[in-house]
Amino acid sequence: MKTDTPRPVRLADYRPTDYLIDTVDLDIALDPRATEVKSRLKVRPNPKSLAGRKSAEPRPLVLDGHRLTLVAIALEGKPLERKAYRLSRSGLTLIKPPKGPFRLDITTRISPETNKALTGLYLSRGVYCTQCEAEGFRRITYFLDRPDVLSVYTCRLIADRERVPILLSNGNLVERGTLDAKRHYARWNDPHPKPCYLFAAVGGDLGSIASSFKTMSGRTVDLAIYVERGKEARAAWAMDALKRSMAWDEKRFGREYDLDVFNIVAVSDFNMGAMENKGLNVFNDRLILASAETATDTMFEAIESVVAHEYFHNWTGNRITCRDWFQLCLKEGLTVYRDQEFSADERSAVVQRITDVRQLRTHQFPEDQGPMAHPVRPDSYIEINNFYTATVYEKGAEVVRMLATILGRDTFRAGLDLYFERHDGEACTIEDFLTCFTDVSGRDLKQFMLWYGQAGTPHVTARLSFDKRSKTATLDLEQQLAPTPGQPDKAPMHIPVRLGLIGSDGRDLALRPRQAESMSDDVVHLTSPRLSIVFDGIEERPVPSLLRGFSAPVTLDTDLSDKELAFLVANDSDPFNRWQAAYSYALGEIVRLARVIADGGRGTPGRGYVAALDAALADATTDWAFKAELLRLPSESDVAREMASNVDPGAIHSAHRLFARMIGRGLYDRLTLIHGDLASTRFATDAKSAGKRAARNAALGLIVARGKPEDLARAAEHYATATNMTDASAALSLLCDAGAREAPRALDHFRQRWQHDHLVIDTWFSVQALASGPDTLETVARLTEDPLFDVTSPNKVRALIGTFVGANPAQFNRPDGAGYRFLAEQVLIIQSFNPQIAARLLNAMRSWRALEPKRRKLAHKSLKRIEEATGLSKDVAEVVGRLIGT
Ligand code: ARG
Ligand code: ZN
Repeated sequence: MKTDTPRPVRLADYRPTDYLIDTVDLDIALDPRATEVKSRLKVRPNPKSLAGRKSAEPRPLVLDGHRLTLVAIALEGKPLERKAYRLSRSGLTLIKPPKGPFRLDITTRISPETNKALTGLYLSRGVYCTQCEAEGFRRITYFLDRPDVLSVYTCRLIADRERVPILLSNGNLVERGTLDAKRHYARWNDPHPKPCYLFAAVGGDLGSIASSFKTMSGRTVDLAIYVERGKEARAAWAMDALKRSMAWDEKRFGREYDLDVFNIVAVSDFNMGAMENKGLNVFNDRLILASAETATDTMFEAIESVVAHEYFHNWTGNRITCRDWFQLCLKEGLTVYRDQEFSADERSAVVQRITDVRQLRTHQFPEDQGPMAHPVRPDSYIEINNFYTATVYEKGAEVVRMLATILGRDTFRAGLDLYFERHDGEACTIEDFLTCFTDVSGRDLKQFMLWYGQAGTPHVTARLSFDKRSKTATLDLEQQLAPTPGQPDKAPMHIPVRLGLIGSDGRDLALRPRQAESMSDDVVHLTSPRLSIVFDGIEERPVPSLLRGFSAPVTLDTDLSDKELAFLVANDSDPFNRWQAAYSYALGEIVRLARVIADGGRGTPGRGYVAALDAALADATTDWAFKAELLRLPSESDVAREMASNVDPGAIHSAHRLFARMIGRGLYDRLTLIHGDLASTRFATDAKSAGKRAARNAALGLIVARGKPEDLARAAEHYATATNMTDASAALSLLCDAGAREAPRALDHFRQRWQHDHLVIDTWFSVQALASGPDTLETVARLTEDPLFDVTSPNKVRALIGTFVGANPAQFNRPDGAGYRFLAEQVLIIQSFNPQIAARLLNAMRSWRALEPKRRKLAHKSLKRIEEATGLSKDVAEVVGRLIGT
């Protein structure tokens, strides 16, 4: 039976609110099952709405509320008669509010302990915490729960003195004291008006580390990070990252912090990564806690970047927020761009770019190519939580980066400065944002705006021809954008293509384009469906290096030969494109192999790639972090995406293995040299040391791909001698993946060592979910019953189930369809208490239509099963509806 589909919310229907709320005074008495929330609101008609007109009759005040028990309600201090308001499942309506400003007092009761949706106020391992973005505040009290209502908040928290000694909220602490023999309180005030999604409150028995930061104008900000007691030392890296973020934002963008305190709290149960609540960021503890023994280098990097991301939101998100949730990319795309720039400055810029592009291709491209495709600024949604996507975040960041490329660094900065100045304290739209750049540059950005409105990844075809007689090279560019759901016809986009032409000596040739108006510096502006550019003064056929630095989020089709790709790997002055050439070369090879295998043949990989890789590894001018990227083959899902249709994940897996084995054999001596030489005893967190470990572990992976007993013994030895989590987890993962005889012992050892650490043990679940053996699904199903597993913990679900369905394509897409059935089962279980996490798991199905017919049929059957289940949450209903296409 199908539940009736909720109505979509549309951007076109946006209207200002009838009322504004100037101040919110909260009084929250924390209790596991009966937390009492007293809220005092100063309300007034919105002058920008019809209701705000002097002559108008007062309109009803419609407050949002979800799963609240109303205890009391009073207007101007007088209890309201029952007939003066209406209660429904979605909120409370004050039928005839007074004409002018008025005071409303509302008391509600909520139950944090039983709240497993992890939105609103909930308990995470004994710690009270909140998550209000996007629409969680309505689970705390009745309110105008939308981002264009900005209020000044005070919040008094009351709790048991012993069990809940730490009480935190946004802004500055104004008062604390004891209430009675058992209870104490703390009152916080945040002077900056903010939307309710930025409200936060925390109460618990937490440990902390403290530090301080001196801002550019000389103010001292007190910094603190609160974590589970006993784990304080593991917060040091996050604190370091926070201070570097604060300094960087001042230096790079002139942004100074604006409160006297900045607090971070790490909690174990959290639906997302972290949340930028004003002055009180709340984090998933996996993105705060790190030490050499417990966290991989990848996690150290992730912590640095997410701490920066949430901090940067203080200006891009909090000081200037979104008018409505359709504008989510206004804060997220811009803030991701900012955190990517930060990481690029703090580490290797090219490796950061490679990491970001990999991420975009892995998560955003499939979104754009499948039934979930939506614009960076969507125009309709049923459940906004489903739109915290790679398109909004990662593609949103690429759009901002293109703006910087098109306008140039200085003009971009000027536009951003104007944005901060003009819109500080406001709730804005993408149009507001772009107008600032138009105003500083005098450029019309109407066509550029299509990047926000048109879904899909543009496909660019590039062909270079050379004419010896006229000494010209002609570059023919063409762009296409395929239809996406709801958008059959597309207009041409403004695509900045950064390029170089490389001569036989490996050097860039001077660019003398005849169509100079289509270029600025080394960037071609492809704004029409087709464009030809003639370059003069070219003596011999050059090799084109296109889309340098991945200057636009597009797919690129060139007719470069393997020889030319090898030439670019060796010579390109753009290091990103050196990597890109190696990646394209490898991808082409694996795709070719997969096709042969899918047709029942036996493929043999070509040798040219091995030689090109060998030469690149020998290059003394590049560092180990870069070489590690070269050693990382395109993933199986990269191959599936490239093949686009009739995808056979089994054949892809075999091709991938075969290719890795060929490299392992062909480069064995060099790989063992890398593995041996880079062994280090002392751990350091810097990018250089991490690069060495990455190269060493990648080399080990290719050695193990040979599959000889001595190779597995090497991996077992690597595990046994590991002094840090990066090495330990890499080796453990390789052993599990290979189904090595040494694997069970290593797994037992890991479990013994980390079973009491609910964070680190997640790795134990993940490595088993990634194994390529034929019984991995059975293992994963069995592990859902493990006492260390907990289906209500999002980190556990992601580590085990999410990893299996999202990162083990061959086993998840088993030809018998058991993987799909397992996913459907888990989604239905999880959605009954946490719809957000359940809907997210379904991401694993976003490319199901590209599968070969047998698997496609089985996938469809499992999706149908979900769709037809009773009591479907709107999160899951929306995603499954889009996937099936109803
Ligand atoms: N704004 C948070 C960030 O920094 C993400 C919050 C997502 N919350 C949600 N319910 N979807 O990116
Ligand atoms: Zn964000």
